[in-house]
Amino acid sequence: MTLHEYVLFDPLFSDADAEGMVDLCQRFGRYGMHSAENEGGPEIGEGLTQRHDAVLNYLKAGGMHGRGGGGSADRRRKAGARDGDQKETEPVSVLAARTNYFREEYAYGTRPLIEGIEPFLFHDGFVEAARHIHGRPVIEPAIVFANLMVPGQELALHTDVPEFRGVNRKLHPQWLLVAMRHSGLFEDWRMPIATGVAWFHDCDGGEFAFYPDGADGPPVYHKVAYNTALLVDTDSVFHGVDRVAPGDAVDLPALKPGMQLAFDGDRRWSVRDGDQAVADYRWDELRFSISWKAYCFADEDERDAWRTHTDDLSLDATLATLVEDLRARGRITGDPPPSRELALMIIDEYIRFPPPVAA
Ligand SMILES: [Fe+2]
Repeated sequence: MTLHEYVLFDPLFSDADAEGMVDLCQRFGRYGMHSAENEGGPEIGEGLTQRHDAVLNYLKAGGMHGRGGGGSADRRRKAGARDGDQKETEPVSVLAARTNYFREEYAYGTRPLIEGIEPFLFHDGFVEAARHIHGRPVIEPAIVFANLMVPGQELALHTDVPEFRGVNRKLHPQWLLVAMRHSGLFEDWRMPIATGVAWFHDCDGGEFAFYPDGADGPPVYHKVAYNTALLVDTDSVFHGVDRVAPGDAVDLPALKPGMQLAFDGDRRWSVRDGDQAVADYRWDELRFSISWKAYCFADEDERDAWRTHTDDLSLDATLATLVEDLRARGRITGDPPPSRELALMIIDEYIRFPPPVAA
């Protein structure tokens, strides 16, 4: 048994229902680019990106297997990386193109946003597995979304953004929520979430790598295979996606936020910048996954406290708790450092990534 239990589904669906998911992906038609850039001005950590923790680790480690993606020295300094842990460099535009994949929502809460997603949204196996991994009986679907990646893209190692009563990604920086989870100091307010990820084709590269035994344990690799799925606590378990169609020959187009990946019929797709096609692909060259996330409550009372905000955490209380703990750990001795420095200290102290693994 691993530190964090997970459940493998092979197969997830009947053949007909699995084909239905491919059809749904095509019917949806157009997928916008997901970019993790900062929006708005957070009250802490000015100038940091939303996933500053994952970006920093990616720059330090040089990608999933320490083989590039190092970023320029200037970029690394700006991000707050220490000197001496840089690997090979790759222009920051390529780094961004590698990791800004395409994403759209298929359901929000229990509301389908496209017809045909119901068997996935209400999959009994997912609900049962979610109860099992968290030992919590009340399961409430939160979202279903699709991720599409093109050859040359990868997803940096990370844990997903958790949610706490009163502190969530709509209000607060994502790196802070991630650090809160890893600190273990706010578990009374955390809303455990289960994530199911499913694949509906076979794909070259793009393996799902995860660490069910924690950052010090070995990674487990799941090959992208038709009609398989995994259910994992991705808020606690580090995971990432290996490069799609790995190899030197991959020609990654200059992908930029605002571009879309569109279905052109006959199992063909293209990346579009407005009306102009930037690159085109066969279906079997892409990496397609669908994710299901659900809140897992201990009982109805806990669910009601979330809905009615009767036991919310505040940002001030969160930061006070973190500063107090950083003092106890000897990281802060005098006054707390300025906001940006404090933010980098929180990321550095609490979020311990697995070391890079050889390719
Ligand atoms: Fe993730």
